[in-house]
Amino acid sequence: MNSYELNKIFGAVVGSVLAITVIGYISNLLVHPHQLEKSVLDIKIETAAPTATAAAPVELPPIAPLLATADAAAGAALTRNCTSCHTFEKGGRNGVGPNLFDIVGNKKAHIDGFAYSPGVAAKGGQWDYEDLNHFLANPRAFIPGTRMAYAGMRRAEDRANLIAHLRTLSDSPKALP
Ligand code: HEC
Repeated sequence: MNSYELNKIFGAVVGSVLAITVIGYISNLLVHPHQLEKSVLDIKIETAAPTATAAAPVELPPIAPLLATADAAAGAALTRNCTSCHTFEKGGRNGVGPNLFDIVGNKKAHIDGFAYSPGVAAKGGQWDYEDLNHFLANPRAFIPGTRMAYAGMRRAEDRANLIAHLRTLSDSPKALP
């Protein structure tokens, strides 16, 4: 292979690189590539109906059927969610929240002299099983403006067990529903 042939090969390679570059440039001019305005992967996920918002009253199935088979001992263990603010024994002191001895069937805002929020103070009626169920599931939904800074107990079985335990904390426990 003499240098003349090498030059021809070199020339051919340079020529085709040049040709490819020019063709690419021209085709870019002819076919305008443009960015998608929206990603094709932008799939809309339907947000839940407005009833799921925190403040809306929650539709809860009645707790009574679950109370029939509730496990009060398991409920006692669940009071660990409450003891940062509440005591449960008879004559126990009030903490951030009021003492909760004998709460089942008692009037709302049952401790005289405790600084309840206007919402709890004005709610009226007694802490029957269903009201406790609603309050413990979502305190702020049941009593808007409550000072009880507790997000709520989601599982109905847990609430039933806890309420079954609360019921035993009384000199004369109320009848099950
Ligand atoms: C972060 C503190 C806090 C936690 C945790 C908490 N509470 Fe409360 N609780 C309060 C406060 C404060 C009040 C008074 C609410 C008001 O006046 O708005 C209250 C009120 C109550 C009442 C109404 C009492 C009455 O006299 O009418 C019940 C029932 C109750 N809590 C049960 C519970 C249970 C059961 C738990 C655990 C699952 C719990 N709370 C967890 C702070 C708390």
